[in-house]
Amino acid sequence: MEQGRPFVVTIASEKGGVGKTTLATNLAVYLKALDEDLPVTIVSFDNHFSVDNMFAIGPRRGASVAGLLRNEDPVQLAHLGEYGVQYLASERHLSPPDDDPLRLRTLLAQSTLGGIFIIDTRPVIDYFTRNALAAADLLIIPIKDRPSLVNAPAILDVFVAAGGSPEHAWLLPSLIDARLKLRNDIGMQAFLTFSGRERGYQVLDLCIAKSPKVESLTTGLSSRVYPVLTHARGTIVHQQFRQLADFVLAEERRRPTQAILKTAHPLPPGRLRRLQRTCPHCNSSIQSEAVLYWHDHRSRRRGALHRRCLDQIFGDDTLANWQDQGASLLYCDLDSAGVSGDADEAILRLLDQHGEEIQTRPIQIGAGSNFEKILAAMTGRSVGDFFRERLFVDLIATPLSEELSDPRYQAFHVLRRMVLRHQTSHEG
Ligand SMILES: Nc1ncnc2c1ncn2[C@@H]1O[C@H](COP(=O)(O)OP(=O)(O)OP(=O)(O)O)[C@@H](O)[C@H]1O
Ligand SMILES: [Mg+2]
Repeated sequence: MEQGRPFVVTIASEKGGVGKTTLATNLAVYLKALDEDLPVTIVSFDNHFSVDNMFAIGPRRGASVAGLLRNEDPVQLAHLGEYGVQYLASERHLSPPDDDPLRLRTLLAQSTLGGIFIIDTRPVIDYFTRNALAAADLLIIPIKDRPSLVNAPAILDVFVAAGGSPEHAWLLPSLIDARLKLRNDIGMQAFLTFSGRERGYQVLDLCIAKSPKVESLTTGLSSRVYPVLTHARGTIVHQQFRQLADFVLAEERRRPTQAILKTAHPLPPGRLRRLQRTCPHCNSSIQSEAVLYWHDHRSRRRGALHRRCLDQIFGDDTLANWQDQGASLLYCDLDSAGVSGDADEAILRLLDQHGEEIQTRPIQIGAGSNFEKILAAMTGRSVGDFFRERLFVDLIATPLSEELSDPRYQAFHVLRRMVLRHQTSHEG
């Protein structure tokens, strides 16, 4: 499947031993467990081989993280590892190829890796950490005590200086010993959360507890490191990683626009206005693959629909059939719906690239129809409230970033206006 730019999650802290690597590796496993269709890729800039120890299958092969610094395609560098997670092999020694902190961001912006890309960093603000911060769409800073909290701005400053928004940076209380009480009987999580927010930082409403069972997963005799998901399900940490993965997934789904904005050619901001961030049919992300762009004339809402979702709505192979007939635009005319008080039928028109009609047929849109839910998601109204809705769906599957850039964007709207004009003149 053709994928787009990945959503980049960086785990960073200048303090050692706050749980960065444990977080990064387990997050990858939990994300994959929550959504097996989502490509998840992990890389670490440290030299402990923790990523390899959890994910490698079989002997070490050639490509490694070193390739990233030589601008090699991450798709080629990633190995498919355990638990369905893709990983880049670690390196004992890495040296900076130059002093460009945007090298990784540029490389990933052009990448077709898709899904989520997790970066584990070293406990130092060096070339690699700077690159990881500049590339991040979401930054997670684990804090376990006062010193690591006080140190958080060091990381945040680098992130913001590279163009990151503080809105996308979160502190996460980590390695929390629930029995430990500070003055006035305050627990560590409450203290870190309160002090972090008082300093103006976003602190996640969850924590990762300190658990002997979790610790034993990395300190066992074998070099193999096991995930919490498979080997410590009985611990509270299991629940906490699930919550963390839910949070990261929600962020990824909320922000296709942000990822699009980080592409090589920024889009006019107007094109992102009223852009719906998830597929109206399945509600999952639309940024990582070729999709069908749609536009609702009245609300001016626009977004994208997965190809497979269109087939689920209209029946198997519908899209291929329509394309075979030369259709490039689907126009759904709900003009009569609502007006007559009988809101359950609309007209579907298939049009070719010149706006010529190929096929016209009525479709049921009333309560309980296949179409009802997605119409409501597209227009922002329920079927009963429809009044002169006109929906357009581009039937040529394209990544959303491309769909919103010239010349495709222009072509779609020229065709759309032509169809509307044509219809109005007929009505008149
Ligand atoms: N939730 C947890 N409960 C108990 N021990 C943990 C937990 N998370 C991590 N640890 C242990 O704490 C130690 C440090 O964790 P980890 O290596 O993930 O931190 P780090 O921030 O990556 O360290 P470094 O800065 O050295 O790379 C490890 O021994 C690990 O097993
Ligand atoms: Mg580490």
